[in-house]
Amino acid sequence: MRGQDAAETRRPLAVGTLVLAFFTGCAGPPSLDRAILPGHAAAYADALERRPGDAKRAFLAWRAEQRGTSLAEAVRRDAELTADRNPFDANRDRQAVSLGAVVYRNHCARCHGSSVDGRGPDVLPDHPCKDFHAFDKRFAVTLHRGAPRAWFHKIRDGHGPIVEYPDGPSTAMPAFGDTLSNEQIWLAVTYLQSLDMYVPAASAEASQ
Ligand code: HEC
Repeated sequence: MRGQDAAETRRPLAVGTLVLAFFTGCAGPPSLDRAILPGHAAAYADALERRPGDAKRAFLAWRAEQRGTSLAEAVRRDAELTADRNPFDANRDRQAVSLGAVVYRNHCARCHGSSVDGRGPDVLPDHPCKDFHAFDKRFAVTLHRGAPRAWFHKIRDGHGPIVEYPDGPSTAMPAFGDTLSNEQIWLAVTYLQSLDMYVPAASAEASQ
């Protein structure tokens, strides 16, 4: 009888473990390299090189060029991408996920880590970054896309106490509003949302 009781307690535990394993297994990070489509990293690097030290203007100028519009028009369109709504769909927009991964690698990985686990080289021990693969984060993304508006605000306006980074003092999560366009910020958010999804290897997609 005792053995049976024990078996009965073990069963839900085993099911729970399986469910957890399923979630964490599926939530496995598409590595940055897998997320980035061929050509995106080089095109972004090329755009940034044309306006060194001004990633925001460089990106807007790149967009203007792609769309055959003026820089002023690109700035106007960017201003329309407010904090209210992510213009990209992490479930469907493979291009946006890829570009978001490029933005992330260029501006965020030094703290948040190249696996988005919060272990980048510049992170301060007293002010850690969160692990975006943590169960609560992935669960929130699965349920309601995470906290896209809150993330947008924290990235644009900064968050946390003032701390001393090697390149000077700033909020623990630095404000990127002057450094990145609204579109770059939404792209980075889209990449963060996409982390628990299966992203086909860039090479597989390129050969289609
Ligand atoms: C210099 C280090 C540093 C860089 C660079 C950095 N972050 Fe952060 N970030 C942090 C820290 C530390 C926190 C946690 C501090 C807090 O929110 O109080 C954080 C918090 C966040 C949060 C809020 C997480 C949550 O659960 O609310 C988001 C979203 C975020 N960062 C995204 C980004 C993105 C996207 C970039 C690149 C555009 C970036 N970060 C660049 C250090 C950094």
